Amino acid sequence: MRRRRFVGYLLGAGALLPLAFFRKGNLHAASAYGPQVPLSQLSTPWSFVEVEFTKQIKTQRGLKPSTFPGYIVRLPDAVGERLGLTHGLYAISRICPHEGCPINFYGRRTDIPYPLADEFPTPLLICTCHQSVFDPAQGGKVLSGPAPRPPWTFDFVVEKGNVIIKELEPGGEKWG
Ligand code: FES
Repeated sequence: MRRRRFVGYLLGAGALLPLAFFRKGNLHAASAYGPQVPLSQLSTPWSFVEVEFTKQIKTQRGLKPSTFPGYIVRLPDAVGERLGLTHGLYAISRICPHEGCPINFYGRRTDIPYPLADEFPTPLLICTCHQSVFDPAQGGKVLSGPAPRPPWTFDFVVEKGNVIIKELEPGGEKWG
């Protein structure tokens, strides 16, 4: 059910409801470790999976579990090696560093909902709220738009053929 709400949000009014789906107080998902994703699902360049990572964050009412949607993207080998990524995997929070809207992965240029000022050779991460564009092939470098930094990354390990998210980059809790 939670997943359906999430997908429905993305397909529906994603750009118009910046923080509505970044749920707070998700009591049944709190854990020290995040989701496990079979490495086999990320075997081809530019394949990606959606993940949700839950951690305790400080709020005015004390520690509360908060869930952070994210992506794990498998980059081409040469790119992954250049960036020094484990298994060529780029794992990020989908919460935009600008004002917290969802970031979406666009594998095909034709799926991007508005024209880009420049052409880019590889898939992009885009927040449609204010049109921030991030390049996963450059470690999430901001190509355009008001985002002040690349997406926050997830720390992860690969164990027994599974990718396990362990932690969110410091500062990534900002919109949690
Ligand atoms: S919230 Fe993402 S560009 Fe503004």
